[in-house]
Amino acid sequence: MDFVYDLFVVFHLLGMAAVVGGYAAAQPRVSELMVWGARAQLITGIILVGMAESIDSLGKDPNMPKIITKLVVAVLVAGFAEMGRADAKRGKALPWMTHAAGGLAILNVFIAALWH
Ligand code: HEM
Repeated sequence: MDFVYDLFVVFHLLGMAAVVGGYAAAQPRVSELMVWGARAQLITGIILVGMAESIDSLGKDPNMPKIITKLVVAVLVAGFAEMGRADAKRGKALPWMTHAAGGLAILNVFIAALWH
């Protein structure tokens, strides 16, 4: 089961690369890549926490205040990315929405790595 968990960590890191890389490459517009990255972070993150909480042999003990903070930030990232992408498709991109999504995604990388 360790391998499956680690595989989801890989997907989680690739999702992070998509949302942050998609932001860097396409700003001030929201790219399709960024939206898919934001969705992937919510799905893979929730799977990781579900596995960590339910499979004792993994030996994980998630830091819940940190996870809840990351979840709230990730929901905002996905929300801003979805709204920004919808606007970009209609040709009226709002740069602040792109920067809000990208900036909050980067904030979540800091939270992930620095909060123990
Ligand atoms: C924009 C959204 C997100 C970004 C950019 C992000 C980024 C990251 C990064 C860079 C790591 C690796 C950190 C390290 O190993 O030191 C990580 C780990 C993790 N993230 Fe996220 N994350 C996001 C959303 C979420 C969400 C929504 C959840 C859960 C609800 C979550 C749960 C986790 C967990 C459980 C780990 C630990 C994996 C392990 O066991 O090493 N993340 N995240």
